[in-house]
Formats: sequence, C-alpha cells, structure tokens
Amino acid sequence: MSKLFEPAQLKQLDLQNRVVMAPMTRARTSQPGNIPNPMMATYYQQRATAGLIISEATQISDESQGYSFTPGVYTDEHVAGWKTVTQAAKQRGAAMFCQLWHVGRVSHPSFQNGEQPIAPSALKPVETQVWIADENGNGNMVDCVEPRAMSQADIDRVVSDFAYAAKRAIEAGFDGVEIHGGNGYLIDQFLRTNSNHRTDHYGGTRQNRMRFLLEVVDAVSDAIGADKVGVRLAPFITFKDMNCPDIVPTILQASKELQARDIAYLHLSEADWDDAPVIPESFRLELREYFTNTIIVAGSYTQDRADEILEKGYADLVAFGRPFVANPDLVSRLKHQQPLQQLDGATLFGGDERGYTDYPEYG
Ligand SMILES: Cc1cc2nc3c(=O)[nH]c(=O)nc-3n(C[C@H](O)[C@H](O)[C@H](O)COP(=O)(O)O)c2cc1C
Repeated sequence: MSKLFEPAQLKQLDLQNRVVMAPMTRARTSQPGNIPNPMMATYYQQRATAGLIISEATQISDESQGYSFTPGVYTDEHVAGWKTVTQAAKQRGAAMFCQLWHVGRVSHPSFQNGEQPIAPSALKPVETQVWIADENGNGNMVDCVEPRAMSQADIDRVVSDFAYAAKRAIEAGFDGVEIHGGNGYLIDQFLRTNSNHRTDHYGGTRQNRMRFLLEVVDAVSDAIGADKVGVRLAPFITFKDMNCPDIVPTILQASKELQARDIAYLHLSEADWDDAPVIPESFRLELREYFTNTIIVAGSYTQDRADEILEKGYADLVAFGRPFVANPDLVSRLKHQQPLQQLDGATLFGGDERGYTDYPEYG
C-alpha cells in the first residue's frame, strides 16, 4: 500500500494518514467581521478524512487583510466561529492547523481605512491584484498600490499580532498554526531582495532578510510552543512580482534556523496555478539535510508523485489543494484509484454552498 495512507506523527499529534489538505482561500465568511460560519464547518468536515487540514489563510489583525471575506482569528467572534469548524474536523479524525497571514503590500487602502498598506519597503508590486467585493458579494480584481515602509514600531506590532492570533487559534481548537511565509505576502516580502530594500537590520544580508520571519516564529513559539508551529515557504515561486535571485539560498539558510527552533514542520509551496517550476533534486537533498523535522510539500501532486517523494524521504506529508476542492473524499478516491472530479473555477472565491459544499462523494 502507498505510504500516503499510513499514519504519521507530527510532534505529539497522531495523523490518520499522510494526506494534507493545503490551505485554500475560499472567501466565504459571514459579514460583518469576516467570521467563520457553519457552512465553512461543513466544508472542512467533508474533507476531514485527511490526516491534517491547514485552514485557508487567516488574518491576524484588521490591517493584515488583502482580499474580501477572508477570515480572521483575533476577535471573540472569530474564535467562536472557528471552534465549530475545528470540532467538525476533529470528529472525523483530522488534525487542523490555522494558517496565519499578513498580506503586507498585497492589499488595498479599502482594507486599511484609506491608508497605504505596509511592507518592508515602499515598492508597489507590479501586475499584482487583490479581490475586493461589495456587501452583495460582487467583486473585482483591483491593482495593489504603493505601500508604506514599515517602521520598527510597525514590525514590533505585527510580530505581537502574530503571537496574539496564535493564542486565539489554540483557544479556537486548532492543533497548531502555520505561519504563512510564502506566496508573496508580508514575510516573503521581507525574505526577498526585490521587495526588501531596507538598509536597517531587516534588509540586505540573508540573515537580515530572514530576521522578521524568525522574530515571528520566536514570538509565536513563545506563545503556544514550537511543537505547534509550522512555517510555509515558497522557494521557487515568482508570481506577485516576487522574482528574487537569492531566495533559494535564503530559504535554505532559514531552514537551518527553523530546525534549530525545533518547529513542527516546514511546508513548501511549490506551485501556484501554472507557476509550477520543476524543483531540482539537489535542493530537496540539501533541505532534507538541514531540516529533519516534518516536511510537507504541495503543488500539483498526484498519487504517483506523492509516492515517489515519500519513498525518497524528501517529504513526510503531501498536501493537495485543487483536488480537495472538487473531491471532498479525496483520500478515499486516491486509495481506491477512483476518478477525480474537476473543480469549477467560477465558484472558488465568495458565494454560497454552490461549488463549495455541494461536490458529491464518489458514487
Ligand atoms: C482556490 C485556492 C486558494 C488558495 N489559497 C491559499 C491560501 O490561502 N494560502 C496558501 O498558502 N496557499 C493558497 N493556495 C495555494 C495552495 O495551498 C496550493 O499550494 C496550490 O493550490 C498548489 O497545490 P495543488 O496543485 O494541489 O492545487 C490556494 C490555491 C487555490 C487553488
């Protein structure tokens, strides 16, 4: 039998298999306040035969938002909403982590009380847009604007917002949190030379560019324990104006720091839609050498690719994104080699249960 269906250990957690549901924004919270709701609980419960579910990216504060209707995890209402979700997932055996998110410059003044979004440097991301909807759910893609460079006070505030949100996530019943350090959002913006032109100790050298990431990891670990912390990084992705020639060595160096902190896992975001570069074997070997705790991979995985990477030992768990949208019973379909349904791209973001909780199980 494929290793994918074997149980696994993630620090103190027992996972029922090695299939992970990748974090996926679906923009279906209740308004006002971006509150998780019973429809979301149904959606996650339907997919909770996975070993681990990573929630959709979730705001840590008002200012960390960049898209309409994405959830938060910092108010009492958020915590109450998420409790229903985490309980529903647990009933079917899945562990669940909350992906903590600050978008940085991938935002818009309409989420910032009319002010500029914040980022490491005042550099507008080219060809980068966010989705903004009115209260009826009718939305448009809108260009990002030039952000304001963060002061030390901004940095300190965001670090403590991450720690606060992590505590609230645990209170909401999550087994841990995943710090979103990839896909062109705030932490990634610090890591890369193209978006970080700072001249203080957060910019320039690799050690400086990873400082913000490590401050967040340390603050979150102090708040909830490093054994409940995962980090997502995207070494080969270049979308959202994130083409940085030094990102791969930066991430390899960061992986040693993360291992030293003994976090639960490192999660590689390997593909975004069609931006799915082939990852050299040398990178996987080097990463495995530096990071010996759990590695999760995500990006266009199939059963065959999953088996291969698990067999080689380059990863311990494999995350599936798009296949989980249209196949709530993905684990069973993979196990029994049943055909997969295709997702409907028109119902991914916002809307109701259509294209969300109405995808049928096999047969
Ligand atoms: C609808 C959708 C929403 C996504 N939202 C997030 C997100 O909130 N956080 C994140 O880290 N990645 C997000 N991703 C990326 C996925 O986690 C995953 O890395 C990507 O879809 C590649 O995996 P796949 O080929 O199995 O779909 C999203 C992907 C999709 C399709």
